[in-house]
Amino acid sequence: MQKLVVKGKKKLSGAIRISGSKNATLPILAASILNKKKIEINKVPIVKDVITMVELLKHIGSNIKFDLSKNKILIHNQNRKLKTTAPYKLLKTMRAGLIVLGPLLSKFKKAKVSLPGGCAIGSRPVDIHLFVLKKLGAKIKIKNGYILAETKKGLIGKRIRLPSISVGATENALIAASYAKGTTYLSNCACEPEIKDLTIFLKKMGIKIQWIGERKVKISGSHNLKSVSHTVMFDRIEAGTFVIAGALTGKKLKISGIDTKILKKEISVLKKMNVKLRVNKNDITILNSKNIKPVSISTQPYPGFPTDLQAQIMVLMTRANGISKIKENIFEKRFMHVPELNRMGAKIKISRDTSLVYGPQQLNGAEVMATDLRASVSLVLAGLAAEDETIINRVYHLDRGYEKLENKLRKCKANIFRSN
Ligand code: UD1
Repeated sequence: MQKLVVKGKKKLSGAIRISGSKNATLPILAASILNKKKIEINKVPIVKDVITMVELLKHIGSNIKFDLSKNKILIHNQNRKLKTTAPYKLLKTMRAGLIVLGPLLSKFKKAKVSLPGGCAIGSRPVDIHLFVLKKLGAKIKIKNGYILAETKKGLIGKRIRLPSISVGATENALIAASYAKGTTYLSNCACEPEIKDLTIFLKKMGIKIQWIGERKVKISGSHNLKSVSHTVMFDRIEAGTFVIAGALTGKKLKISGIDTKILKKEISVLKKMNVKLRVNKNDITILNSKNIKPVSISTQPYPGFPTDLQAQIMVLMTRANGISKIKENIFEKRFMHVPELNRMGAKIKISRDTSLVYGPQQLNGAEVMATDLRASVSLVLAGLAAEDETIINRVYHLDRGYEKLENKLRKCKANIFRSN
């Protein structure tokens, strides 16, 4: 099994260009199921989750080609008859496979999609996904680990309030409603930038979609879809991760290919921590940051502080002069990185959904175990800041969502390599 070896305390300098967003690419690929015309998707990150979604679409019969040399996906399903089953083997490692449920059901009036696999960060139920699809007219049963959904006459537009905010359920509902008969109003939606990117893609495909409030969207379904070319938005979690790397170890590190408007919350938290940032419209430079201050954060749906950056900011908190606090509101088991950070010399105490980080502590290298995607990258960050060598096991978690992580860091003078 592959490991990452990081020799810490190297000052990072230079520039890192941010890749396309994994979490925007996945629902856009799922939405391709609706359309028989040509689809071109650019700036697709080459990460394991995207490759799994491509495999899933191939499995159902989609004519999809991933040009890895150009980060481009082409899909053309003109005369293809797609299957409507998404098997366990393709959903067990990637929960986001569940987003094919809405489009399959909406387009083909039936779908059989495996319940996604277990997940280290919490139980992650699917009730909200099923709730919205039932409201649109689906009959749903769970049998033998599969969601069996059908609709005799096709889905029909409705006014639906999501019982609580869910990114995936909002995406499933948006895509399903795009092919439903009539108009759907969804309220209490997630409004993550990746969902806005999906909306742009659906609009380009010919669907009338309008955000009529921060969490409210109107969708007029259509079967008359057009050919579409789309460039995926930047990965804001990758961007935040590298900005934190710069704050931990940077001399002068530039993060480019981003839209800093989207990172307002993250930038304000880092500024509170006394991180020296030069912020332009499409890039951020992190300057040598000393005297890091403690801060309290609470993870929230967008535009709040993202749960996907919680583990990374925690590493920076170990540097702060005082006690920082993190309240995790989105997932119930998302402090799996804490014992590993403590083994590296951090002093972090967990009490239910809250962690207290006692700083400043100098981290020191250790052999550690990655438990999920964002936890693994927090261990890389800790390794960059630590004295001596850190070995991170189970890097396949990291490969699910970070494109060329070591190459990007090595270009900025980090001492990091992969070994078997
Ligand atoms: C997406 C992101 C993930 C991110 C998360 C929260 C993708 C591919 N993944 O995951 O990186 O961490 O948003 O920003 O975009 N919930 C239910 N019932 C449901 C659905 C969700 O109770 O049917 C709960 C979840 O357990 C969780 C909360 O709602 O506690 C938010 O989850 P959700 O927004 O759905 O996350 P994902 O779409 O799975």
